Amino acid sequence: MSALPGSPEAAATTGLDDGPVLPAPIDLPPLTERTRLEAREIIARYPVPRSALLPMLHLVQSYQGYVSPEGVALCAEELGLTKAEVGAVATFYTMYKRRPTGRHLVSVCTNTLCSVLGGQRIMDALSADLGVHHDETAADGSITLEHAECLAACDYAPVVTVDYEFYDQQDVESARALVAALRRGEKPAPTRGAPLTDFRGISRQLAGFSQYPDAAAAAAAIDAPGALGPTLVGLRLAEERGESAPAMPQPPSASASAASSGVDAGESRETVRPSGGTGETPGQEAAEARVAAADTPAEKAGAAGSHPDAPEPAGRSLADQDDGTETPAGQEPGTSGQGPAGPGRVVEGKNTPKRKS
Ligand code: FES
Repeated sequence: MSALPGSPEAAATTGLDDGPVLPAPIDLPPLTERTRLEAREIIARYPVPRSALLPMLHLVQSYQGYVSPEGVALCAEELGLTKAEVGAVATFYTMYKRRPTGRHLVSVCTNTLCSVLGGQRIMDALSADLGVHHDETAADGSITLEHAECLAACDYAPVVTVDYEFYDQQDVESARALVAALRRGEKPAPTRGAPLTDFRGISRQLAGFSQYPDAAAAAAAIDAPGALGPTLVGLRLAEERGESAPAMPQPPSASASAASSGVDAGESRETVRPSGGTGETPGQEAAEARVAAADTPAEKAGAAGSHPDAPEPAGRSLADQDDGTETPAGQEPGTSGQGPAGPGRVVEGKNTPKRKS
């Protein structure tokens, strides 16, 4: 069992991947000093270095087409983490590939709505055309095919993405034509959003490096017009039928409450004083209004649950409330917010809110 090809220590830690261990391709371009300098540029964007890990993984993927053992090592060295810790993150997210990826990554949504509208038939047809299964790359290196869980575009189902750009409302024939065009080296325009690049190109964008020559070109690409038709169908039908959502109870605005109570708007939330004759803070008054306005028992329970005075949900610990990005003093990296409190474990940091009495 291996988490990353050639990375047994990561496998020993995560045990997440039962795929075969593949040697690095002989034509894999090595990571260079430029990669390392760009990694440091990413790190400099964050107040805590380890916060840079996710874009750094996209960066090494943009050079080598996947998160190679060399890429894991570079991230670990630059961030002061162990390779096992970096491997644990890289194997958790499906956008980090553990085997070399083709020029394009084609993802077919086979989740519920897309599937009932033909997503699985699309996946099966592309699999047959390419001679590959999920997470495999065609022999010519052009396409890596994967099935995907909901791509958050159910109103355009069934959807296919190429390098994370959307191709909406596909069917078997349109998807086969799309993949055939990609294999010919063409880049059909996505249905909406930015123009298509390739897997390494989009990985570089996800690392935070623009592929466009200047800010105006980048904005023009990112702000490309989209087809909102399916998204707005419900709104159009409601308008035709004269339907509208019930008005939301309006909580008193913070500024109005502050003005009426004499509280300086610059004061923090914790120091807001009661605003009226009820002896409650504006947040409490708004929560009371939401509970009072709830029509059904379920709505009432939901509103009560969000009340500032509601008890902590069972099982939620103080550690869950920590911002979790900085390893508390005396702990190994990667242990913040995990597991029960124990000897030597810090459960209250300087940023940890105090539990209400
Ligand atoms: S089910 Fe396919 S995008 Fe949601």
